[in-house]
Amino acid sequence: MAVLENMTSQHAIALENRYGAQNYHPLPVVLTRGEGVYVWDVEGKRYYDFLSAYSAVNQGHCHPKIISALRQQAERLTLTSRAFYNDQLGMYEKYITQYFGFDKVLPMNTGAEAVETAIKLARKWGYEKKGIPANHAKIVVCQNNFHGRTVTIISASNDPVATENFGPFTPGILSIRYNDIDALRDVLEDENIAAFLVEPIQGEAGVYVPDKNYIKEAYTLCKENNVLFVADEVQTGVARTGKLLAVDHCGIKPDILILGKALSGGVIPVSAVLADNEIMTVIRPGNHGSTFGGNPLACAVAKAALKVVEEEHLAENAERLGELFRAAMQDLVDTTDLVRLVRGKGLLNAIVINDSEDSSTAWDICMKLRDNGLLAKPTHGNIIRFAPPLVMTQDQLMECIAIIGNTLKAFRT
Ligand SMILES: Cc1ncc(COP(=O)(O)O)c(C=O)c1O
Repeated sequence: MAVLENMTSQHAIALENRYGAQNYHPLPVVLTRGEGVYVWDVEGKRYYDFLSAYSAVNQGHCHPKIISALRQQAERLTLTSRAFYNDQLGMYEKYITQYFGFDKVLPMNTGAEAVETAIKLARKWGYEKKGIPANHAKIVVCQNNFHGRTVTIISASNDPVATENFGPFTPGILSIRYNDIDALRDVLEDENIAAFLVEPIQGEAGVYVPDKNYIKEAYTLCKENNVLFVADEVQTGVARTGKLLAVDHCGIKPDILILGKALSGGVIPVSAVLADNEIMTVIRPGNHGSTFGGNPLACAVAKAALKVVEEEHLAENAERLGELFRAAMQDLVDTTDLVRLVRGKGLLNAIVINDSEDSSTAWDICMKLRDNGLLAKPTHGNIIRFAPPLVMTQDQLMECIAIIGNTLKAFRT
């Protein structure tokens, strides 16, 4: 405790720099506490969290109902492995499958693990149901995707920072332009394609919202070609974009749905792959697994986290506040030279800064926002993502809009 009480931002940052692998470039702010839409730094300054741990904390920091479920379950049983049954997993599986409308779920921990799982599932389905010749299955992905950090997943990436010197890469991945339906139509002529893996909105790339009909048309093309439509909703799912799932905006049900992040309200790593029996039953004992996947603590937490989304109407709130937010940002686009455009859905939004891609302007603006009590982070290029917890009230949003507006108007490069 004494160590914590004496911890300054400077000291905490120095420790990370000295003892941690430098695989991130965090904004210099050291957080020690969170509640709802707020976080506090070690010096006691309060901030609005406008990142929500990359959309993992949709339900707000330390939501009392989720923390209560965590506490209760942590005192009873945390981990059994899947060598034995536990009394939480089945209840959770029933809950989550009914919640999202699928026959079955395969529980994992991180988003990347769930994406890996979905790729394995799609390949196996490709061989056993579609009849693709052994070891010839291909997965189609989109350029500028972000699906995680494992070797197979970065094999699907065209980001040099994520891929350089990590080869050799996993074969069997074809990359096409995002939001280009003709490119998908062309590539699907290949009969060995098992799945099309896609983010309904590309989050990490800078919140790229595809054309209105893209996802629906892509889904239809997949159906016509007996190819699985796999939606990576690790970032967009669980109410973030103003619907429970981003694909709900397009009225389709993916063959495989990948969830993570906010599935636990950002409390512990919980991810999931959902599919109907026709697909999921290709997985048999021993084919796949994870020591922690489906642990009782995760099950209790995820169930509580999903209940909060429903009880507190977070999708509806995200939809309503998102409209207000984009209107306010559009006003800044129209009245200042600093912001080129705003885009997004629900409370997953981004502004594009009017400067060259390699300038530090977006970073410098985020530093000023920090000074003014709001935490956001640049994503690729000169783009700032804005994704506050979905429990935000309209008054709080208005205060945040004022902070962003005032910061941008006062900003000098
Ligand atoms: C769309 C998408 N998929 C997968 C992942 C990977 O999730 P994790 O960092 O939990 O492995 C992310 C993380 O940002 C993501 O945005």
